[in-house]
Amino acid sequence: MKPNNSKNSTKIDNPTLLYCALDNKDPETVENLAIKLSGSVDGFKLGLEYFCHNGPAGINRIKNIGLPLFLDLKLHDIPNTVAEAVRSVAPLSPKYLTVHASGGTEMIKAAISATHEEADRLGTPRIRLLAVTILTSLSPLDLISMGIGSTTKDAVAKLTTLAAEVGIDGLVCSPEEISIVRKEVGIHKEIFVPGIRPEGSMKNDQKRSATPRQAANDGATALVVGRPITGAVNPSQSAKKIKDEIGFKSF
Ligand code: C5P
Repeated sequence: MKPNNSKNSTKIDNPTLLYCALDNKDPETVENLAIKLSGSVDGFKLGLEYFCHNGPAGINRIKNIGLPLFLDLKLHDIPNTVAEAVRSVAPLSPKYLTVHASGGTEMIKAAISATHEEADRLGTPRIRLLAVTILTSLSPLDLISMGIGSTTKDAVAKLTTLAAEVGIDGLVCSPEEISIVRKEVGIHKEIFVPGIRPEGSMKNDQKRSATPRQAANDGATALVVGRPITGAVNPSQSAKKIKDEIGFKSF
């Protein structure tokens, strides 16, 4: 990531990227959509729904289209199991893979070590690990019932610091927490942000949403957008509109 020239800047000059979330379990549907979108987005995100249904072969099918892949498996288990899961998906060579920050420092360290070892073993680029902070589906009451005695923002800040201190490559957070995360990590980490809704589009189930331009200006390095693109009459036109919006940062 290239910092801008001003001293002590927390701003980033690189354009914010657009990853399309292909949330569907049918490989034909996902592949057709991915082919249509391949000239208008920077990468594809495939999650648990697709991976559990189609396995590694299904992932390779989309990988073969040629764009970077974000494998959103949100791993969370004991360190050894997570490290082995990282090793298992390494041959798929996703550019990004997610773990839960709440898995703790030892789990994150084990996952990072596995990315290094597998890159050396396979001769492939190292997978970049992103830590999911607090799921946007969790309310403040949920946090209390889980025994987390702090606000969502404080919990996000703590989890961000924990993951950053052991060398995570980036974080995933809602639009509301971009500035908090950016403040904790400075300019040298990636921030992936779902919950993006272009002006005038349906919110669906996203409660903490922002427009593409807002999120880019707050410091997101990549936006993860699903239904506003995949549900559009013309998905690639919708993606191009978002790209245009984030191509010109006002900061
Ligand atoms: O369709 P939509 O734009 O809401 O899709 C957002 C994508 O980001 C989905 O794949 C969703 O699972 C994912 N996501 C999210 N909130 C998080 C983490 C991931 O919406 N905190």
